[in-house]
Amino acid sequence: MEERLKRIKGEARRELDKAKTLEDLEALRVKYLGRKGALILFIREIGKMPKEMRPSLGKLANEIKKTLNQKIEERKAKAKERRVLAPLDLTLPGKKPSLGGLHPITQVLNEVTRIFSRLGFRIVQGPEIETDYYNFEALNMPPGHPARGMLDTFYLEKVTSHMIRINRGIGESGNRGSSSPSHRFSVSPFQHSCSQLLLRSHTSPVQIHVMEKEKPPIRVISLGKVYRYEAVDASHLPMFHQVEGFMVDEGISFSHLKGVLEVFLNELFGPKTPVRFRPSFFPYTEPSAEVDIGCLICKGKGCSVCKRTGWLEILGSGMIDPSVFKAVGYDPEKYTGFAFGMGIERIAMLKYNINDMRLFFENDLRFLRQF
Ligand code: DAH
Repeated sequence: MEERLKRIKGEARRELDKAKTLEDLEALRVKYLGRKGALILFIREIGKMPKEMRPSLGKLANEIKKTLNQKIEERKAKAKERRVLAPLDLTLPGKKPSLGGLHPITQVLNEVTRIFSRLGFRIVQGPEIETDYYNFEALNMPPGHPARGMLDTFYLEKVTSHMIRINRGIGESGNRGSSSPSHRFSVSPFQHSCSQLLLRSHTSPVQIHVMEKEKPPIRVISLGKVYRYEAVDASHLPMFHQVEGFMVDEGISFSHLKGVLEVFLNELFGPKTPVRFRPSFFPYTEPSAEVDIGCLICKGKGCSVCKRTGWLEILGSGMIDPSVFKAVGYDPEKYTGFAFGMGIERIAMLKYNINDMRLFFENDLRFLRQF
């Protein structure tokens, strides 16, 4: 029996020499000193042995148990010390903090802001919850006007006071970090309080808010979210971003519109980008024009992106209609102005060659990390 006990002791000692980590040491303790550990089982068996052997075997076994336990605890303490000290190893390479980046839509919004700021345009924000009056009526689309059908609008049935507070909160805007003066502007969408509430389907109502409060000369852009009741596909989302711009003063002509937009598009898409003005119709501008740029993908040769035309439609624009001036109390005989509006997602898709608008809002890091 004593032989067996010595074998257990020898094995335990050898294993103790080999044990390196806290985990090794704990496994060792369980193996010999745990409830079913080899040494513990042996000690239990002593009771069944001949009476005369019990005292000496018991004494020896208990001594081995005590020493082994002591040694394991000592080694564990040392291992813990090593573990605590390890992070102080200054020769180990550091952990890189992972930095976030700006969303591609934010990048385009910033770029558009930068370009127009340099042209002297001021940035204004308008409310996302609008009234029928601002979204349609004041923009020369009275009830029943066919052009309302072009904008599939979300109407709000009931608006709680909470939503009104949110809406008022976004009436203020600073300048998006550009160098032009940062004017603040607040809007109240509820001046025409009997009007139906809706989610704005374009940023053009900001024109009305600004002109109601200010007198010309005015040079403003407004960037923000708009909402449309659309089925989602690669080029349609129920929420997207637009930029609206307009300029009003005495003597503003179509050539000002052309000049500003040509400078803008050449800054945004690169110098010498071909720009074309095509007659069009919007109820709030007369004359109206849609603006195309030479296809960025095929350089005008014709491809699937430009539907073989060599041109990409990029924005709507025109000279502000006299009826819009009348709605805000401006004298259309005295003032003229131009306005334009465009979708930010579309610009980002063309700029970065992205073929599906949904990618912008799926928050897939593999997509976002590319920008
Ligand atoms: N509001 C138009 C849209 O959502 C874009 C637009 C066209 C804005 C012509 C304008 C404009 O200011 O003059 O499609």
